[in-house]
Amino acid sequence: MYKALIDRLEADSFLTADEYLTLIENYKQISAYAAQRAVETKKKYYGNKVFVRGLIEFSNYCRNNCYYCGIRAGNKNIERYRLTPDEIVSCADSGYELGFRTFVLQGGEDTHYTDDDFCRVIGEIKKRHPDCAVTLSLGERSTESLKRLKDAGADRYLLRHETANREHYRKLHPDSMSFDNRLRCIDDLKRFGYQVGVGFMVGSPYQTDRDLANEFAFLRKVNPQMVGIGPFITHKDTPFSDFESGSAEKTLLMLSLIRLTLPRVLLPATTALGTLDIKGREKGILAGANVLMPNLSPVSVRGKYMLYDNKICTGEEAAQCVECLKNRIKTTGHEIVTDRGDYKNEV
Ligand code: SAM
Ligand code: FES
Repeated sequence: MYKALIDRLEADSFLTADEYLTLIENYKQISAYAAQRAVETKKKYYGNKVFVRGLIEFSNYCRNNCYYCGIRAGNKNIERYRLTPDEIVSCADSGYELGFRTFVLQGGEDTHYTDDDFCRVIGEIKKRHPDCAVTLSLGERSTESLKRLKDAGADRYLLRHETANREHYRKLHPDSMSFDNRLRCIDDLKRFGYQVGVGFMVGSPYQTDRDLANEFAFLRKVNPQMVGIGPFITHKDTPFSDFESGSAEKTLLMLSLIRLTLPRVLLPATTALGTLDIKGREKGILAGANVLMPNLSPVSVRGKYMLYDNKICTGEEAAQCVECLKNRIKTTGHEIVTDRGDYKNEV
């Protein structure tokens, strides 16, 4: 019966919320078959290619206080850092030498940088490396700012919605943040022509399997080009320090179901997955993911972008070790490629 549901999902790219729920509740029985179908689906559009993005974590200052996040403003136990605009550009330069053709600029919501700063950084990277894509992951910004950054040359924007359930959103964030503003940003990003990424954590506090099942209707509605999901991982210095981390296995099933629901989506096997399980990223690729985002930040700051406990940050996940990554991915029958790796639009 589970197999028939997966087969129908593969054929129609959709199930009812109750049907998704059945699969999620029985993830242990279904995950191997779902992964196999997800990989076949991915191959139809992207073959055995895995795209890499150089991740530049440029600042761990943040004005927000998301209850789950290790770099939240209220965490006084971390050493803060920010890269200068020149340092960000030079990370991209060294990434280019290593073969990267997409750079992801991610940070806390650090008000130290102005729109002008970001526009200059984007412009400079695009000028030096016109064959590259620039992805931003800067959190929520005004409509005007998102427009300016697009006009400056940004190609893509990652802004996880974190949960499609408004009440659940309230439990993950303080009152200073709002679900509506998150949705407004996602709407702006689409209107301005960004390739858009949304996403959520699997196993975040108060999340139910029903919430996970309902994510698919949201994803179908937004129809993003990218979806970033990873397990929630506890951070000891946050209000959620007593909650357990999410499950890597359930995350893998969610990856497969997302691939089958949005066949062309660019889907990373995330660092969080690789943190919970040493083979997590390979397993993610074998569950339908097709993107990896190795770290390009300078070694001196890498350990400070601690979103959750024990985040992998010094070894093979780093961009400098792209050769080891290539070999690891080869073992899954896939091949890392270094082109921009754009979304395949329907023709
Ligand atoms: N400030 C930007 C934003 O809010 O989109 C980008 C940085 S934020 C740290 C990137 C993502 O990290 C969040 O969207 C969240 O899903 C994830 N994250 C934060 N804390 C986490 C945790 N404890 N476990 C797993 N993922 C986490
Ligand atoms: Fe701002 Fe996590 S609270 S990046």
